[in-house]
Amino acid sequence: MEHMTDPRRHAPATLRNRAPILAVLQRVLPAEGLLLEVASGSGEHAAWMAPQLPPRLAWQPSEADALALRGIDAHARDAGALTVRPAIRLDAASASWPLAAADAVFCCNLVHIARWAATEGLLAGAGRLLPQGGPLVLYGPFRRHGRHTAASNAAFEASLNAQDPAWRIRCVDNELVPAAARHGLALNEVVELPANNLVLVWRRGPLSAG
Ligand SMILES: C[S@@+](CC[C@H](N)C(=O)[O-])C[C@H]1O[C@@H](n2cnc3c(N)ncnc32)[C@H](O)[C@@H]1O
Repeated sequence: MEHMTDPRRHAPATLRNRAPILAVLQRVLPAEGLLLEVASGSGEHAAWMAPQLPPRLAWQPSEADALALRGIDAHARDAGALTVRPAIRLDAASASWPLAAADAVFCCNLVHIARWAATEGLLAGAGRLLPQGGPLVLYGPFRRHGRHTAASNAAFEASLNAQDPAWRIRCVDNELVPAAARHGLALNEVVELPANNLVLVWRRGPLSAG
């Protein structure tokens, strides 16, 4: 019966990347308020990271896949992660999100495994929700100045394309920076992480007068 099955999913990559990502989050996130996580997947990042962040910073997980939500909640419950809120349904590509404001937005491994509309929607949503100076933190593989940062990323992209031709390792400089600027976000920091991945820290600029 459906209600008796274990809803938890497992993404082994989260065990490998979580510590270096957390080190960046601990440095750039605000000490209190609300962190919105977009594309939480299994929810293992939320369950492990949230208890290591300030106790007054609530973590709001979200997913486009409604079937993932119970598993995200179950991981948080198992971990005793008291600052993790119940997961909500959120499609990054949608023009309306079920949240009016967030003090920080975090998204891990979505941009290359989704159509461009999801990235444009993510940047637009962060631009709408964040206060001035608020961070959007992205993690994943990216091109720099049009080029892959490693041969392994080129091979990875070929495997992505086999699943969906619209999936692509996006370029920080030629694609993300101009798109982010359209939504009031500027690139603040690029951190190199293991396995040829990057953390990109964007900051919301001042709201325009018009
Ligand atoms: C590779 S997984 C990454 C999950 C998690 N962040 C992690 O690092 O383990 C990509 C996730 O993006 C979600 N996703 C795909 N398109 C999305 C969209 N338009 N909005 C929100 N989530 C989306 C998928 O359901 C999937 O859980």
